[in-house]
Amino acid sequence: MLAATGHAVPKRVFTNHDFASIGIETSDEWIRERTGIGQRYIAGEGENLTTLCTEAAKVAMQRAGVTASELDAIVLGTASPDRLLPSTAVEVQAALGASRAVAFDLDAACSGWLYSAQVAEGLMATGTFETILVIGGEVLSRIINWKDRNTCVLFGDGAGATVMKRSTRGRGILSAYMRSDGTLADLLHRPKGAGNAPVTPEIILEGSHYIQMAGREVFKNAVRSMADAADRALDGAKLSATDIDLLIPHQANIRIIEATAKHANIPMEKVFVNVDRYGNTSAASIPIALSEAHEKGLIKDGTTVMFVAFGAGFTWGSMVVRF
Ligand code: UT7
Repeated sequence: MLAATGHAVPKRVFTNHDFASIGIETSDEWIRERTGIGQRYIAGEGENLTTLCTEAAKVAMQRAGVTASELDAIVLGTASPDRLLPSTAVEVQAALGASRAVAFDLDAACSGWLYSAQVAEGLMATGTFETILVIGGEVLSRIINWKDRNTCVLFGDGAGATVMKRSTRGRGILSAYMRSDGTLADLLHRPKGAGNAPVTPEIILEGSHYIQMAGREVFKNAVRSMADAADRALDGAKLSATDIDLLIPHQANIRIIEATAKHANIPMEKVFVNVDRYGNTSAASIPIALSEAHEKGLIKDGTTVMFVAFGAGFTWGSMVVRF
């Protein structure tokens, strides 16, 4: 059961117009038309993945009435950890003082929170875990190439946190679906700069340690995979489109969101959209949207929500949750 949510973003807002100030040849019109994005949040000095995730976690825990010592586990979906070793999850554990919790990162790119929630559900099914903090967080601004207009206009930073507890009957996760296809890994990746090709001055000069994306190919795969994931979510829960009160899709691009909703036969009035204000925050996008939906009073007792995600890997999946 998703007991409560919270989110946090950096202080600095970076609008589409701000790209002119860093010499990027683009326009507000191009970005809005192709993606629906109007602004994003960018981490500054003193802000990193640990601080954002900790802030989001504190809000979720306070809303759930859960203290740090009650947490049995912390699962952090991210593709932009503060350090490659150790995990950012252990840094969040230390910052919260959650001394009993086992903590680990899970990298499924934009599907990171969705995968993490399903892994947490599995941990709870073992009977040893009662209360789990599931976070999706990213500081993508530090792994994108600010000279590459194909990618730098798309992404943003932020974190969303969820406190999960063991479900009561008829509530919680009604269906869960996850898929991966590593044969398409090169379409959205950081080619160099890790174990395969450790950082050298040449790598830094060519910028091959930053995210690179074949946008059009990723777009086509996202539309296809999210449609498949939406079908699986309904089949798994034995529900029809009219049973869904709210669709919360990964917020990468308004055109992908609209295509997913159309395929699933869910009208746009029932689709949560905030890509205009946050950009693509990868693993953070769904939990930030969920937290905002809660704050807007869109989720009440009995509300049925469908989540659909897609990201690098490729990874994709879905979930139907009754609150
Ligand atoms: O989170 C999951 C992973 N990510 C995604 O789901 C993103 C998936 N992809 C997309 O959302 C879209 O493919 C993009 C928004 C990245 C691009 O939209 P598109 O309609 O597929 O554009 P395109 O790649 O076909 O590029 C069209 C043109 C190109 O110019 P030419 O070659 O046609 O002359 C680009 O050079 O737009 C140019 N372009 C830009 N122009 C102004 C690319 N980026 C920009 C830019 N500003 N920022």
